[in-house]
Amino acid sequence: MGGGGREHALAWRLASSPSVAAVRVLPGNAGTDGVRVPGSKTLIENVAGDPQSVAKSWGADLVVIGPEAPLCDGLVDKLSEAGILAYGPSAAAAQLEASKSFMKDFAQRHGIKTAPYRVLTDVDELEARVREFELPPVVKADGLCAGKGVVVSKTHDEAIAEAADMVSGARFGDAGRKVVLEQRIGGAEASIHAICDGQRAVILPAAQDHKRIGEGDTGPNTGGMGTYAPAPLVDAAMFAHVREKIVQPVIDGMLKDGIPFRGTLFAGLMIPEGEEPYLLEINVRFGDPETQVMMPLIEGDFAELLVGSARGDLAGVDVSVKDVHALCVVLASAGYPASSSKGDVIGGFGADSTQAVVFHAGTRRDGERVVTNGGRVLGVTGMGASLRVAADNAYRAVSGIEFDGVQYRRDIGYRALK
Ligand code: GLY
Repeated sequence: MGGGGREHALAWRLASSPSVAAVRVLPGNAGTDGVRVPGSKTLIENVAGDPQSVAKSWGADLVVIGPEAPLCDGLVDKLSEAGILAYGPSAAAAQLEASKSFMKDFAQRHGIKTAPYRVLTDVDELEARVREFELPPVVKADGLCAGKGVVVSKTHDEAIAEAADMVSGARFGDAGRKVVLEQRIGGAEASIHAICDGQRAVILPAAQDHKRIGEGDTGPNTGGMGTYAPAPLVDAAMFAHVREKIVQPVIDGMLKDGIPFRGTLFAGLMIPEGEEPYLLEINVRFGDPETQVMMPLIEGDFAELLVGSARGDLAGVDVSVKDVHALCVVLASAGYPASSSKGDVIGGFGADSTQAVVFHAGTRRDGERVVTNGGRVLGVTGMGASLRVAADNAYRAVSGIEFDGVQYRRDIGYRALK
């Protein structure tokens, strides 16, 4: 379920899972509309309707939910009540993403390393609390804000103004009336995705993303302009540390609190030089565009992993990872991230091959043509034996694609490629 690049990548990977006979995407996009993955017999089709009745009428064996909003609204609970197996957390477990203060209190209570913080709802207290932090704190709206709820300010005054805007309801409505002030932690960011069954986790290769619109990581934040995996920052020792000190304690803590966590635990980490990582954020779904670089690295029956998680039984199930690198370049429409342009004709998709895959996000069919339909339009993932080769394959495929106002970064992966 979903219509972005993440869902195209999930559908693409599921279609080549041996146990999968059919993949249907609701509502999907132009990339998930009547396509076959090379080497797979499974057709991916878009459908319309409401998830419960559509899943029931197909006799769907598994519903995989992409975005956070339906998870936080309890779609997995509703599907489960209707006897349909669904991949993802319950609404109660999805609070780890739906409420930043829930996540911070949870981490603190269970001894998981996270940055010092304060939770506030009172405008009159804001100034004093912000000034308690030596450096201007990061201001986070408590609720879901479509990736726009985290603000990093240069001065205390700016942080106070940002927080006041949120707490008054002016910025994000009810989602911002409670804020988390969090001590700013420097370092390198990485993210880990774990597929959880309530007790156990299968951890996928680490990915790194570029959130800013501009080259050199400058300019406004976006949903993500590119990613690469595996992330060299997360070596074997770091991977083991994250499993032992972050992922498993989150799963154990949720179980102890009576809210077993099933589905994707997407842990946002900050790793200061020479220090152990901090858990700064949890999302309860796959990252976008992280999924577009993780899916090409996974082999074997990916669907079995998701079914194992949804059934609460991943015992004996593991992920098989290919020895390849993947790098995704996001192509955005004119005006993104402030706005987006719709209806521009897209040409030059010829690159789909073993070296690069074009994942659609904001696209739709208009007769015979494919046109832009949102901010992030395409994610072009190159694969290769090294990150350099993956980058070259991605950018070769990107160079053939055209639409009015296309914007993309030419430096995805620059730190790792240095
Ligand atoms: N790329 C960041 C996210 O999906 O939240």
